[in-house]
Amino acid sequence: MKMDARKYNEQTMKGLFRKIYPVIAEQALARTGIRTGLCVDLGGGPGMLGIRIAEISDLRVVIVDPLADCIALAQENIDAHGVGEQVSAQQGAAEHLPFTDNAVDLVVSRGSIFFWQDQRQGLREIFRALRPGGWAFVGGGFGSKALREEIFAEKADDAKWNRGRRERVRNNPPEHFQALLAELAIDGVVDSGDEGTWILFRKPESSA
Ligand SMILES: C[S@@+](CC[C@H](N)C(=O)[O-])C[C@H]1O[C@@H](n2cnc3c(N)ncnc32)[C@H](O)[C@@H]1O
Repeated sequence: MKMDARKYNEQTMKGLFRKIYPVIAEQALARTGIRTGLCVDLGGGPGMLGIRIAEISDLRVVIVDPLADCIALAQENIDAHGVGEQVSAQQGAAEHLPFTDNAVDLVVSRGSIFFWQDQRQGLREIFRALRPGGWAFVGGGFGSKALREEIFAEKADDAKWNRGRRERVRNNPPEHFQALLAELAIDGVVDSGDEGTWILFRKPESSA
């Protein structure tokens, strides 16, 4: 395993970012109303959001990420949190989701869509894999203004991180995601504010 993935897991996901996952998990469940069935944490990395969702709901969770290093770290985190019966980790990418049609109740994805090779195909895949009535909660952010400010203060001297983040924000304004939803004829909203930028949509019951 590459050391940088492990270092990122320890210093960022389990360190500086640790407080954002419980907040975002609550927001995802509150906004979608989904608390049972199958949840996919897409681009879940070491899985902290998916693990938290499992801890506060009856959802079974599959953490999906293209990187083998992340899947190994996710498995370690699953074991450390004692949620092995509810959560698993599987290699895969947004553009080719490893799920059959109409199989997933909730797709959550934080901080990942900005890195997908083909966002349009990824959103199309999410729509395909959702069951009618299932929800997507996809985007990025730090959960609240206070948490964002805390993280920005800690990262103030990290020029590389700030450059990358600003570039991703610049290339992915809410209008960009709104246009993608319109192109795909997906009826959804893009919320942008203190909680982050989140694409929310529900697959209509009539699309079975
Ligand atoms: C900034 S990390 C976010 C990890 C995690 N969601 C979190 O918030 O802690 C971005 C993640 O997106 C994953 N990723 C990159 N390209 C992807 C793709 N095409 N499909 C799914 N995930 C992808 C990366 O491997 C990485 O784990």
